[in-house]
Amino acid sequence: MRRTYIAGNWKMNKTATEGVELANELKAAVAGCNAKVLVAPPFTTIPAVKEVLAGSNILVGAQNMSDNESGAHTGEISPAMLKDLGVDVVILGHSERRAIYGENDAFINRKVKLALSYGFEVILCIGETLEERESGKAEAVCLTQLVGGLEGVAKEDMANIVIAYEPVWAIGTGKTATPEDADSIHAFIRKEVEKLFDKQAADDVIIQYGGSVKPDNVKDLMAKENIDGALVGGASLKSELFVPIVTFDK
Ligand code: PGA
Repeated sequence: MRRTYIAGNWKMNKTATEGVELANELKAAVAGCNAKVLVAPPFTTIPAVKEVLAGSNILVGAQNMSDNESGAHTGEISPAMLKDLGVDVVILGHSERRAIYGENDAFINRKVKLALSYGFEVILCIGETLEERESGKAEAVCLTQLVGGLEGVAKEDMANIVIAYEPVWAIGTGKTATPEDADSIHAFIRKEVEKLFDKQAADDVIIQYGGSVKPDNVKDLMAKENIDGALVGGASLKSELFVPIVTFDK
């Protein structure tokens, strides 16, 4: 049985002061919810948020991580630095990292393997652009990103991998994939995980949907067999939007 997993990606929003305020609001409001819950603040906001959320049911993640362990990598954040802050989860391969910062599958794959070696749970983001969808390439693109991102990952490590399917055209646009369209890609991803590993890995892997998830569409998305959670951007920045998403089944 896969447990629903709702994650909030704050992107480049919330100073430490603002993050503390939001974390305090969330802490009380989602205590005792059924879902697994994560927030991923910007790096500099993580320590303050981590302190507020200590002892709560909300995990704290990072939005990115270096593909190197240490050394001359100006501006990068290492796995040990995140471990030291008590970070549990890293989001890797977000479409904004791919599109704006040129991250490719091989580069993301190095990060995935490094993160796993440090014991992080990895949320690996994949998803097609509008152009790719309209030319019938959605599955092919997702497959390339899935296979590329997971290359060399051992079956045992799949317990620490979450896949986030985020169609690029649905991110921050207010356009959501229909639950049917999303579920169909999720089912495809699950089948491919089975081909790469085995049935157990496919049955167990959590596949989140991301792209304009809001309080009014979360229920229909989560009702689908292969949609196990959500990776939420914009609506994770306000407790009045994120709390109803996390507690959609209450
Ligand atoms: P959005 O972002 O919810 O603002 O569309 C989702 C994401 O990029 O993770």
